[in-house]
Amino acid sequence: MVVTIGKTIDESKQGSAFESIKNKDSEKKFYIESYGCAMNFNDSEIVASILFDIGFGSTQFIEEANLILVNTCSVRDKAEQTIRNRLIHFKKLKSKNKESLVVIMGCMAERLKDQLLEEEKLVDIVIGPDAYRSLPQLIAEAQSGHRSVNVLLSREETYGDINPVRLDGNGVSSFVSIMRGCNNMCSFCVVPFTRGRERSRDAATIVREAKDLFDNGYREVTLLGQNVDSYLWQNDDGTKRVSFAQLLEMVALIHPKFRVRFSTSHPKDITDDVLQVMAKYDNICKYIHLPLQSGSSRILQMMNRTYTKEWYLHKVNRIREIIPNCSISTDIITGFCSETEEDHLETLDVIEKCRYDLAYMFEYSERPGTLAARRYPDDVPSEIKNRRLSEIIALQRQIGFELNQKEVGKVYEVLVEGPSKKNKEEYCGRADNNKMVIFPRENSSKCDFVKVKITECTSGTLKGVIV
Ligand code: SAH
Ligand code: SF4
Ligand code: F3S
Repeated sequence: MVVTIGKTIDESKQGSAFESIKNKDSEKKFYIESYGCAMNFNDSEIVASILFDIGFGSTQFIEEANLILVNTCSVRDKAEQTIRNRLIHFKKLKSKNKESLVVIMGCMAERLKDQLLEEEKLVDIVIGPDAYRSLPQLIAEAQSGHRSVNVLLSREETYGDINPVRLDGNGVSSFVSIMRGCNNMCSFCVVPFTRGRERSRDAATIVREAKDLFDNGYREVTLLGQNVDSYLWQNDDGTKRVSFAQLLEMVALIHPKFRVRFSTSHPKDITDDVLQVMAKYDNICKYIHLPLQSGSSRILQMMNRTYTKEWYLHKVNRIREIIPNCSISTDIITGFCSETEEDHLETLDVIEKCRYDLAYMFEYSERPGTLAARRYPDDVPSEIKNRRLSEIIALQRQIGFELNQKEVGKVYEVLVEGPSKKNKEEYCGRADNNKMVIFPRENSSKCDFVKVKITECTSGTLKGVIV
């Protein structure tokens, strides 16, 4: 996923998106490109806020930027290669405009530390995910020709007091980070190394930020964390504690016409309390992203996911008992170390049993420094990883299509997002279950809730008419 913040700025957009014209006459301009997960995109908005505060304006034209920032992802090797190519491109641009500074921020900055600055000389500033407050100082240091690196991880930083600038927002739906870092040590995963220890953000600042979105016209918020179910905020003397279920309820109570979503849930941590709060409030979307990773209990153990195939299937049943019709999506890694054909068949079996509405599927990519890289050889040949991936994609596509066909004839409440990407005559928006629905506009407008009757489908989208 890549978005160039700035390219999609539409000044007529509602909500805090108008912030994008802040300091618009400033001579100092930044350009920012973001990769990776929603949390990383949200971090770009925090950095934008810090830059606005020191007088920078934003630009969509890289050539006119004094500061080029790349917010990076290390989750798979491919992501890092794409970013590396962009950095080489930026270095060439910089040779034309010697005054400009290139900043690498985010997970790849954290992982590679000063390598891209000292050894490869691709960037001027290296800044890790917990160090963004020091960006103004690092810019000043780099401008005076000094080494400019801060990759210190923190146990406390949540940027709770910084109001992100919704640069790339559609004015309808936005993200609020509720925690940072991750304490799980899934053996394949680089995130605990790049994002540090888990910490939860003060619930009051989360509710305030979400309410601010609602007051600025937004009608949907997604609460973000690597493992939202382990969210736990407590005050200094421990007399007040807020769990994820309680936080979800606090955000749901902001307004009945303010939809709430969240991501990501860990199968070992999602509790009945959370499911019951979801069932209780109509404005909490009936959709859960529940990464499986593998259907084989043996592989799950090597992955250090701390659940088995049976436990996972039991969780899915529990979700459907408490929230009938809950839509479920997942992440799957294929070709993890030592994965056999039998293990692969177990994954296909779980896909068939769970009937996911959506799945993100990846080939295993070994990440330096992780437990798996140290302990297990990456021994599944790439042709086999590739073939297994094609098989799970094909199965998932067929299931997705079958599930979508069952939607035909049903009526959904859709939050209108605006013109559809493919055909500007048509409008699009998401149903509560996260499915994208396309329909003729009629007299609907962005941010409206409309009832749409589904008339046809593909494996990816639903089409319908307003009723
Ligand atoms: N916190 C989330 C996921 C974070 S990363 C969770 O617990 O599931 C998003 C997804 O990337 C993961 O769910 C996983 O499927 C995939 N991923 C992570 N590391 C990977 C690796 N080394 N190779 C391939 N896919 C990986
Ligand atoms: Fe990575 Fe596991 Fe943490 Fe998700 S829960 S971020 S996969 S370590
Ligand atoms: Fe990537 Fe870092 Fe997110 S590695 S997935 S940007 S937490």
